Amino acid sequence: MKTIVSLLAAGCLSTGQLLAQTNPVFTVNAAQIKTPVQKTMWGIFFEDINFGADGGIYAELVKNRSFEFAAPLMGWKELRQNNANGSILINNRGEQLNNPRFARFTVRSAAGYGISNEGFRGMGIKQGEGYDFSLQARVVEGNVTLRVELVNAANEKIASTSLPLSGKDWKKYTGTLTASATEAKAKLNIWFEGTGIIDADIISLFPQKTWKNRPGGLRADLVQLLADMKPGFLRFPGGCIVEGRELATRYQWKKTIGAVDDREVIVNRWNTEFRHKLTPDYFQSFGLGFYEYFLLSEDIGAEPLPILNCGMACQFNSSEVVPAEELDPYIQDALDLIEFANGTTDSKWGKVRAAMGHPAPFNLKLMGVGNEQWGEQYVERYKLFAKAIKAKYPEVKLVSSLGPNPNGELFDYLDPVLRGLKADILDEHYYRAPDWFLNQAKRYDNYDRNGPKIFAGEYAAQSKAIASAENSNNWQCALSEAAFMTGLERNADVVHMASYAPLFAHAEGWQWTPDLIWFNNLQSYGTPNYYVQKMYSANRGTHVVSTTLNNETAAGQIGLYANAVIDTVSKEVIVKIVNTSATPQTSEVVINGVKKLDKSAAIEVLKSGDLQLANTFARPAGISPQQQTIALKGKKLPVTLAPYSFQVIRVKML
Ligand code: AHR
Repeated sequence: MKTIVSLLAAGCLSTGQLLAQTNPVFTVNAAQIKTPVQKTMWGIFFEDINFGADGGIYAELVKNRSFEFAAPLMGWKELRQNNANGSILINNRGEQLNNPRFARFTVRSAAGYGISNEGFRGMGIKQGEGYDFSLQARVVEGNVTLRVELVNAANEKIASTSLPLSGKDWKKYTGTLTASATEAKAKLNIWFEGTGIIDADIISLFPQKTWKNRPGGLRADLVQLLADMKPGFLRFPGGCIVEGRELATRYQWKKTIGAVDDREVIVNRWNTEFRHKLTPDYFQSFGLGFYEYFLLSEDIGAEPLPILNCGMACQFNSSEVVPAEELDPYIQDALDLIEFANGTTDSKWGKVRAAMGHPAPFNLKLMGVGNEQWGEQYVERYKLFAKAIKAKYPEVKLVSSLGPNPNGELFDYLDPVLRGLKADILDEHYYRAPDWFLNQAKRYDNYDRNGPKIFAGEYAAQSKAIASAENSNNWQCALSEAAFMTGLERNADVVHMASYAPLFAHAEGWQWTPDLIWFNNLQSYGTPNYYVQKMYSANRGTHVVSTTLNNETAAGQIGLYANAVIDTVSKEVIVKIVNTSATPQTSEVVINGVKKLDKSAAIEVLKSGDLQLANTFARPAGISPQQQTIALKGKKLPVTLAPYSFQVIRVKML
């Protein structure tokens, strides 16, 4: 030891080198409370990108159910056996309706004519499960029965039911299909038996087993993955989708509530965003609309955080703005949304919420003004929103944008201006290389403690380049995020919210990668990044406590990062340690400031020796947490930190 001390004194050894030669010791003082951890600390960013809503969490299996896509028959195909005589004509009832089109079928052969829907890259159907089929129809003339079938990829029947049609008025017809086999690429075939002319609209198929078994509901496996994260908040509906490529296709919440069939279908802005990942069949049915987002937030115990358009279209696209003097309708939308969420049932918008089935308020406390906006035009509009909202609802905290980058010209302009305006919460975005995350673990250590709070609203380590199609949700990225997040947690007095982005990606329908959760028509899995998020959120604790690595902040020395919290409810100390080095590190965690500790600690470890490894459908839990227990020696916990590992240690305070 004398040698090391003299080498240090002579300036030949850095502290890091010293640590490399001795065993690193983490010291936690559970009595030295730094700050409470907000309940909103770890949350979810939801956007309808990568088939996240339609084709994803919204469990509708029929694509273009109301013939409203730009090409009205996209997703549909006529079926014809033995030269059967039949035809389809798209009719339009006029612009006063949100969904004006319907399909007219003229059937002249008694059998052999029908239509087929391909679903979202096929339909995921499970053996033994029930599927609710429905359509709106009227008989213009003749006598027709529908034979509704599900077929597998080889066109073999796996479910069937019949629906006789009658009456000249529009009516809803329903039937149940029970599947005899599991199929990821099923299609829905509808055969017309008899002859006549039939009008049809809103042709729909939902699994009966949705989240909470709600008819017309959400995909249960995907919501379960979200619920398992125990998220503190749910940000919705995005993302750039809030802004639209142009104002005409911005997200307008009022058009997404009320009867599902009456919600106007519009193009999804990610449809043609990336030349290398065109998805011309990506539209928004808004079956998952604002009411459903609020309900989802409530279901999974997350604070709702709606983000509203602030009169600006996406600045990466058209950059259209609404003149400031014409912003009132946009501001009114924000005020009305608060009433929709929180208003009494006799208020105009509270009444609408109650009519939809939720008389109790949703207790909205947070709202975002604009998504990823920047420049003077944003500040001008933000001010008008903030003035009006704060005047009527001072208790609602507003999230304001700091633009698309965590530094640079746009950030440097907005940050002081919004701080000067005493903004509540600033939304920082960082899509950066893994090294950036490792180097930024102290980012918030010197932030103003009395200024606005920080929402790390969108972040994800990019293995190749921002939104490159070659990006991977590999372990290197997830590990760097875990290391960085020790810094978010340590600074929980400033950082009140954080969320990885984007959330979902359909394996055959994505535009942007990396993403937290991948799915296909039958399966879904969490990436290593998902498990990192989940381990933080499920181990949030209530208060940050003092944590050091040999008397220093543990933020990268010999590749180690750490932070500890206590949970005053469960009476536990929770220590998070990340080893980003390629070597195992024999270490010790000393827990002071407690009378007595349990004899053993529970440790959850996420690790892999291969930084390039990612989870896949074949190996969905390849990198997933493993549980261990370790005996304590009094207040000391000996731990061996595996190379490239993230561990969460929980010890009971007795
Ligand atoms: O998460 C994907 C996109 O990245 C979001 O829509 C946008 O806010 C950001 O540029």
